[in-house]
Amino acid sequence: MRAKMIAGNWKMNNGMAATADFISGLEKWFAEGEGQKAARAVKSGRVEVVLAPPFTLIASAVSAKKSDLIQIAAQNVYHKQKGAFTGEVSLSMLEEAGCKYAIIGHSERRHVFGESNEELEKKLIATLESRVLPIFCVGELLDERNSGSMKHVLTTQLESAWRSLTSDILADMVVIAYEPVWAIGTGQTASDADAEEACDYIRTLACDKFGIAASDSLRILYGGSVKPENSRSLLSQSNIDGLLIGGASLDLDSFEKIIETSL
Ligand code: 13P
Repeated sequence: MRAKMIAGNWKMNNGMAATADFISGLEKWFAEGEGQKAARAVKSGRVEVVLAPPFTLIASAVSAKKSDLIQIAAQNVYHKQKGAFTGEVSLSMLEEAGCKYAIIGHSERRHVFGESNEELEKKLIATLESRVLPIFCVGELLDERNSGSMKHVLTTQLESAWRSLTSDILADMVVIAYEPVWAIGTGQTASDADAEEACDYIRTLACDKFGIAASDSLRILYGGSVKPENSRSLLSQSNIDGLLIGGASLDLDSFEKIIETSL
């Protein structure tokens, strides 16, 4: 049984007060009514709830947390340990700040900031050598989908990143997020069938390279215009093990409703 992951990527949003309010509001919800069911699912390992605030808000999020019901992720990381890399943040810094996960290769990192497959492989390997766990993002552009090259894009992005990994590492440590770029922030969610087809394809690629046991354990998330209205049916697809949520994770009520649909 793969634990479901409901992860909110706040991108470049929120401030210190909003972060503390969100975390304490979510923990309050976990303590009452429907939220108690969610808290039980988290405690029993069936669901994991993750928030990825901007770097400057990680410490605020960690210190606002009174329990282990919420895990914190970074939105990016640099692969070097330390040194003259102005503007970058290392894995030891993220570990010390209290991050369990780091998002790597988000489409905005790939397409706005020009991060290459080679660079993202280095980030993935460095993360796997630390105590932070990777949420590695892949996904095709609209033109690539329209020209029928979705599978080719996913193959290239994954094979360049995971070529040196072992089956055990893939199974135990890696989370993949399929985020079709055309669905991010557009309101145009992938249909359940399209999201499932891509996530099934990712699992098939993992099976071909790492074997059935590792691919069965691999968690694969979908991201792109997820809302409370579409999260339940996306989560009911057999190869979708969770959601990476942008806009709807900024609103506490929406985020709670999405968690409810994972129960
Ligand atoms: P939206 O949910 O706002 O489309 O963003 C998805 C995303 O990029 C999450 O990482």
